[in-house]
Amino acid sequence: MDDRMQVWVGDITTLKVDAIVNAANSQLAGGGGVDGAIHRAAGAEQLQAACRMIGGCATGQAVITPGFDLPAKAIIHTVGPVWSGGQNNEATLLRSCYSESMTMAVREGFRCIAFPAISCGVYGYPKEQAVAIAVDEVERCLETYLMFKRVIFACFDQSMADLYNRLLA
Ligand code: APR
Repeated sequence: MDDRMQVWVGDITTLKVDAIVNAANSQLAGGGGVDGAIHRAAGAEQLQAACRMIGGCATGQAVITPGFDLPAKAIIHTVGPVWSGGQNNEATLLRSCYSESMTMAVREGFRCIAFPAISCGVYGYPKEQAVAIAVDEVERCLETYLMFKRVIFACFDQSMADLYNRLLA
């Protein structure tokens, strides 16, 4: 496994990295979960204004805003698929969230970014499957993007971190 991938337990909004990735909705309207935490920590009004300027983001795509009050320079907002049984292109769309976010980071010259477990909360993606896709796709991107120093999988709890650690071991 590529040792540039790391697992970390805690609140992603505290990380001083080039960009944190947000598990957003397609309206970029803010919400609960990690999206709510990011909006609050970045400064809800200013982030919402930036999101309104962009307008929206399709599932599997990524857009970028400044990090505003966050320690991170930028926020890459990506929209994960809602799990609806697995026959509705969920895996391809989730994979795309990771690759589009990595591509966006490269375009911005970023070297260190952090991902939450996209779609693993409200959107109901089975966690083990989602984590396998996350690790596989990030590793694939890292093979191409040699400039990356670190990709952090930020987990809110230890049980999620265990899933990543099992794959990265
Ligand atoms: N730091 C790191 N991880 C977090 C944090 C945080 N501060 N808060 C929550 N998480 C974790 C959750 O435990 C979960 O494992 O992020 C993962 C993703 O969960 P959600 O935030 O529910 O994201 P998702 O399943 O992609 O659903 C997106 O939820 O809040 C709305 O607007 C959002 O509609 C969108 C939907």
